Amino acid sequence: MRVDGKHFRSIWRERDGWSVGAIDQRRLPHEFVVARLTSCEDAAVAIRDMLVRGAPLIGATAAYGMALAMREDASDAGLKRAYDTLVVARPTAINLKWALDEMRATLAPIDPVERAEAAYARADEIVEQDVEINRGIAGNGLKLIEAIVARKKPGETVNVLTHCNAGWLATVDWGTATAPIYLAHERGIKIHVWVDETRPRNQGASLTAWELGHHGVPHTVIPDNTGGHLMQHGMVDLAIVGTDRVAANGDVCNKIGTYLKALAAHDNGVPFYVALPSPTIDFAVNDGIRDIPIEQRSGVEVTDMTGRTADGRLETVRIVPEGSPVANYAFDVTPARLVTGLITERGVLKPDRASLAAAFPERIAAAAE
Ligand code: MRU
Repeated sequence: MRVDGKHFRSIWRERDGWSVGAIDQRRLPHEFVVARLTSCEDAAVAIRDMLVRGAPLIGATAAYGMALAMREDASDAGLKRAYDTLVVARPTAINLKWALDEMRATLAPIDPVERAEAAYARADEIVEQDVEINRGIAGNGLKLIEAIVARKKPGETVNVLTHCNAGWLATVDWGTATAPIYLAHERGIKIHVWVDETRPRNQGASLTAWELGHHGVPHTVIPDNTGGHLMQHGMVDLAIVGTDRVAANGDVCNKIGTYLKALAAHDNGVPFYVALPSPTIDFAVNDGIRDIPIEQRSGVEVTDMTGRTADGRLETVRIVPEGSPVANYAFDVTPARLVTGLITERGVLKPDRASLAAAFPERIAAAAE
């Protein structure tokens, strides 16, 4: 996607051929800074501290983390150590474990002297595959938007609500929830995005608004609790969100607050779609509400906010009384019954076990191994 007219991805191999570049998402929207990752530990810290974030990008970073690790120590012990270090970096997005399992399956059977080269090659494939998958999601989601256009009066704008950042910053390119939006915009469809600010880390206000703005897509940032009001007044045609893990029964785990949006959408007859790449499906989890681990993050993300002052300085201020306890659950689970459809690279699926299994039989087989 574009930043000031220049094409960017969220992660890439640097010109030296081995180190990894990534946009430091902690600094957006105020500063555009590129970080250079040179070790497995760098990759683990980047994921943990949310320099990179978003389920598919976490997976891609972990894949390169394994490649960096193989430069350091390509022995069986080194492979195990890298896997164990990276897999615990964040608990909820299943793409992390998926990417590490893919890397291990490629690397474990081969001679350690060949592992570094093979690791970079496999990581590059995972990265390219993510872009391809998101193109597929774009095309399948576009059909839903076109169907809404066909029902609207000529010249009317399609209003999409999204939560968190499931944009190109959260993937390698295109995004998942934003992929159909970017494609619709490219095709000349009049589209406008309601961007939930997404407290406490403000991924919507800081990241989604930034990327839509740089790409020229009309959008409006709203406080998190605005969606229900907009839906009651016919101002949302559909919601599209991303996800960190979809259980085999179609339950969807995504950024905290997604569930409330799904409830409001259900009450108001607004279609609620979830866009996902197949590596986000976890066929090993049968009940999302019961079994998906929900990350709890530092209370500082709730008590403190950082922003730019009128004279251009970045400043952090406390917004909660000293001594008040806070809770910071990073994700929630939306039950499948509230989801209208799952936009995948293989079509828009019903959120249930049979549809997921029929569309991705090879993933079921892998989960059973
Ligand atoms: O905590 P984050 O910013 O990593 O959470 C990201 C989300 O919740 C996204 O919606 C999800 O990872 C899908 S990204 C295509």
